[in-house]
Amino acid sequence: MTDDRPGGFLTLGDLEAAAAAKVPAEVWAFVQGGAGEETTLRANRDAFHRRTLRPRVLTGVDSLDLRTRILGQAVSAPFFVAPTAYQGLLHPDGEIATARAARDAGILGVFSTLSSCSLESIAESAPTGDRWFQLYLQPEFGASAQLVDRAQRAGYRALVLTVDMPVLANRDRQIRGGVAVDAPAPVGNGPDVQAPSRAPMPDGDHYTLRKETGATWEIVDRLRAHTSLPLVIKGILTGDDARKAVDHGARAVVVSNHGGRQLDGAPAALESLAEVVAAVGTEAEVYLDSGVRRGSDILMALALGAKGVGIGRPVLWALATGGEPGVARLFSLLKLDLATVMAVTGRTSISAIDASLLGTPRW
Ligand SMILES: Cc1cc2nc3c(=O)[nH]c(=O)nc-3n(C[C@H](O)[C@H](O)[C@H](O)COP(=O)(O)O)c2cc1C
Repeated sequence: MTDDRPGGFLTLGDLEAAAAAKVPAEVWAFVQGGAGEETTLRANRDAFHRRTLRPRVLTGVDSLDLRTRILGQAVSAPFFVAPTAYQGLLHPDGEIATARAARDAGILGVFSTLSSCSLESIAESAPTGDRWFQLYLQPEFGASAQLVDRAQRAGYRALVLTVDMPVLANRDRQIRGGVAVDAPAPVGNGPDVQAPSRAPMPDGDHYTLRKETGATWEIVDRLRAHTSLPLVIKGILTGDDARKAVDHGARAVVVSNHGGRQLDGAPAALESLAEVVAAVGTEAEVYLDSGVRRGSDILMALALGAKGVGIGRPVLWALATGGEPGVARLFSLLKLDLATVMAVTGRTSISAIDASLLGTPRW
């Protein structure tokens, strides 16, 4: 590279290629894989390629401001670290490296129930960072409640309940790759913490599932009654479910198909965004993840009504290739790319990104 782009990487695709060359094949299959034939995984990218942007010119773009607020909290840019399990598989410092890089960059970090590091050690490693805790329901409500209490005590500012994984999907690539489907690695939050249930067990003509898979919207009421943390529901793809989430007190929803890892055949997250935004109106914030790789992707999601976007796999690529400085470079790269497309579209602030930016889809 002849210019001064962070770490010599021009795009997140470069980071992906560097990680692919470094990460053991079975871990790579776990990170990259989607459900089934990975149609939805591919659709997530196609959806961004399909969209067009309408630039405005001569608007005076001598200074650009990427700052915004996510659930009221000031952040340096409208993207955040999506929760991803077992970051210790990518780098020995795991989530601690991610948390420190996020804190230094003013980026919100969401950390998984299935983190390699304990939620307390993540908090202690970056005490001033803005952190949310992502919950996978445990078979007993008491165990979920205990995790939530620990997160609240440790200063996590919101609870993200992931609802799109009643069971782990059949992830062909991951299964063939040989990484244990349900629990690829130890979890820092304690030996009793459970990963989502693996595939249903045949019992005659019925299939039985673990207890928490029977959860209904009532669980949201119970969690809300239990904690004062604002509740965010992650894994919503329809306006009806988004409406339900808001009616049950969610302060925000994440439009997500889990990075194509759960339902092969689900729509691209970006294609579900407008429906969800319309359903919740101004009553809750809407975020999006699944396939965000460029500044222009962020712009498109924001123009369609998202308040922020989550970044999943690229954080893992950055961790694998460079640990904490690697994740810091990823944030710089994304910010630089976002600033560039803002300049080229004539938008100098996040609040200036609205539906007037959207052109006719290409197909
Ligand atoms: C390896 C891996 C592990 C993940 N673990 C979790 C998790 O523990 N909890 C969760 O809510 N989502 C998890 N996700 C989903 C992400 O939060 C996010 O929805 C998805 O990665 C976004 O898509 P992207 O990877 O295309 O950016 C995981 C995703 C990956 C790739």
